[in-house]
Amino acid sequence: MKITFIAGESFGTRSMATYIETKDANILIDPGVALAPRRFGLPPHPIELDKQKEHWNNIVEYGKKADIMVITHYHYDHHNPRQDISTMFSDKIVLCKDPTENINYSQSRRGIYFIEKINKYVRKTEYADGKTFRFGDTYLVFSAPLPHGEDTRLGYVLGVYIYDGENSFLFSSDVEGIPLKEQLDFIHSQNPQLLYIDGPLTYMLGSKYNKDILHMSISNLLRLTDMDNLEVFILDHHLIRDAEWLSWVLEVYEAARYNGIWIGTAAEFMGKKPKLLEAYRRELYRER
Ligand SMILES: [Fe+2]
Ligand SMILES: [Fe+2]
Repeated sequence: MKITFIAGESFGTRSMATYIETKDANILIDPGVALAPRRFGLPPHPIELDKQKEHWNNIVEYGKKADIMVITHYHYDHHNPRQDISTMFSDKIVLCKDPTENINYSQSRRGIYFIEKINKYVRKTEYADGKTFRFGDTYLVFSAPLPHGEDTRLGYVLGVYIYDGENSFLFSSDVEGIPLKEQLDFIHSQNPQLLYIDGPLTYMLGSKYNKDILHMSISNLLRLTDMDNLEVFILDHHLIRDAEWLSWVLEVYEAARYNGIWIGTAAEFMGKKPKLLEAYRRELYRER
């Protein structure tokens, strides 16, 4: 199994786009990339806009090679209804979040619109909530709909576990640092070797996020470091919108390392230094 992280906060954009090659299938999860419309009262800096274009072009290139497209929910950093639909979705098998059940109003509208658009081109679309699919020796196991964070105001997401007979990978989608037992239980039940987790929402501390939820997250993240099979633990996405991100999860880093687990961001897994842009937007404007 080969895993490529294409875009994400540690690469300078909002995304979790991931490409997985197994001997049976090429799978692209969440082909979308977005930017914070406002951060520190500022719109995206031109450097961020360039990075978004670059990442989108890369997503399209991987999309062309994929057999299976996975859409875990309908936020614009995870799908794109406006660009390259025919190029990316022609003849694809699409496994996606059911847009009619366990979903909030805005995602339901976006999901129905998106599926209507891609259905002109795809081979087939299947709602994946709670289902398992098999392609040769490769299994894709989807979670039941899980809350997007500590409540369901932002709707639900699907986690996905992929196993090819030798290696295993789990993509949490937007669980905002797994504050809830049901999010933790899905990961524990699958026991993957490589784990890609959306980290806590610390950049919202003091507004839409609080320390109690952060503590719930940290204690659940610590429990992941005890999993038998875990070799690689990646924390990224919401967490990396905060320049101080590492200070909040030091305990998790220590526990993982103590247990011999490699821990880092998606960029580091790809052999690159994390390059946060949104978290340094004020500085980007000052430098110009
Ligand atoms: Fe989301
Ligand atoms: Fe997201």
